[in-house]
Amino acid sequence: MPSTKKLNLLVVAFACVGVIPFACKKTTTASCDATRSLHAQSKFSIGVAIQLGQYENNLDYARLADQQFNSFTPENAFKAENLHPIENVFEWTEADRLISIALRNNKTVHGHTLIWHQQNPAWLSSFQGDAEAWEALFKNHIQTIVTHFKGKVKAWDVVNEAFNEDGTLRNSIWKEKIGPTYIEKAFRYAQAADPQAVLFYNDFNLESNPLKRKQVLTYLNQLRNRGVKISGIGLQMHVSLQYPEPTQIAAAFKEVFNQDYQVHVSELDISVNLLGNNNNPDAAVFEAQADCLGKIVTLYKQIPQQYQYGITFWGISDNDSWIPAYFNRQDYPLLFDKNYQPKPAYCKLIELL
Ligand code: G3I
Repeated sequence: MPSTKKLNLLVVAFACVGVIPFACKKTTTASCDATRSLHAQSKFSIGVAIQLGQYENNLDYARLADQQFNSFTPENAFKAENLHPIENVFEWTEADRLISIALRNNKTVHGHTLIWHQQNPAWLSSFQGDAEAWEALFKNHIQTIVTHFKGKVKAWDVVNEAFNEDGTLRNSIWKEKIGPTYIEKAFRYAQAADPQAVLFYNDFNLESNPLKRKQVLTYLNQLRNRGVKISGIGLQMHVSLQYPEPTQIAAAFKEVFNQDYQVHVSELDISVNLLGNNNNPDAAVFEAQADCLGKIVTLYKQIPQQYQYGITFWGISDNDSWIPAYFNRQDYPLLFDKNYQPKPAYCKLIELL
C-alpha cells in the first residue's frame, strides 16, 4: 500500500511552493474508440486487476476486460483473508470462478499475493503456536495455494511490500513469527510447490525511491546467491501527474533489468487529483495523464524484450479504482471513464503499443 505518510509529505511540499508542478504536459491525443484491442497491439502482456463481482455483473466491465487485456490479476480474491479465511479451511469458490473465466477467455493469471502484511484473516493474529507451528502454518499457506492453482496461475507475487521506505525490512506478522528469513522461505516454498511458476517480489515506490530500490535489489540478490529463484520484480507504480519524473522511472527499469530481473509494472494507475482539490478535472488534465502514460510506456518498450513481463493496470475504469475509497477523494486514474468510455490515456496507449 502506498504510504499515506509519504503522500502527505509530498502534498505538504507541493503546498509550500503553492503550485503543483506537472511532470506531464498537455499534448493533443487523437480521440479513439475502443474497437481495437490493447493486448492484440502489444508485444508484451497487458494486464488488469480484476474484481470478480464487477466482471459478473457489469457487461461493460466484462467486455473491456475480455477485449483489451490478456492477463488478469485478481485484485482481492487471492489475498489471504479470502483464500484462507479460517485456520484449517481454504475457500476456493470465487477464486476458481475467476480462474475459469480467465482461462476460458485465454488470459494468463497473475497471482496476487501469497505473503503480505495486509488483508490477512483475523484468525492469524490470534493463532497460538510455537515457532514450529508457525513455520508449518506459513509453509502450508503458501504451498496449499500454489499447489491448488498449479498449471493455471502463471506467476505469483510471492511477497508483497516487505520493505520500508528507508530500505529496512517492514515489521509484519510474518517477520515477527517466522523471523527475518521469511522472504527467503516464502520463495523457496513457492518454488517447491510449482517449479514452473514465475516468481515476483512486488512493492510500491520502487520507481521513485532509489534507496528503497537499492536495498530491495541488494536483498534479493543475496537470496539469489543462496540459490533462491526470484524471476522478477513488480514495480506497482501508483503514480501521479506530479511524480515521478520519467528519468526516475527510466533509472528504475534499467537497474532492475540490468540485474537480470523481469520487470512487471504491476499496479499502474495515474492519479490526477493528488491534493483532492480538483474534483472535476478539465480536458487538459486528461491530456497530461495521457502524456504521462505515453512516457511510461515508451520507457517500458526500451526494456530488452526478455525482461518485459508486462504492464498491469490497477483496474479498468475510474469507477473501479481503489483510490477514491482509500484516500477519500475523487480521482480518475485509469484508462476508461466512469461510463467505460476510452480516455485520452487509452488512445495514447493504443497509438504507442
Ligand atoms: O470484502 C469487503 C466487503 O465484504 C465489504 O462489503 C466492503 C465494504 O467496504 O469491503 C470489502 O473489502 C474491501 C476490499 O478492498 C474488497 O473490495 C476493503 O474494505 C478494502 O480495504 C479493500 O481494498 C483493497 C486494498 O488493496 C486493501 O489494502 C483494494 O480493493 C485493492 O485495490 C488494494 O490493492 C493493493 C494491492 O493489493 C497491493 N498494492 C497496493 C494496492 C492498493 O492499495
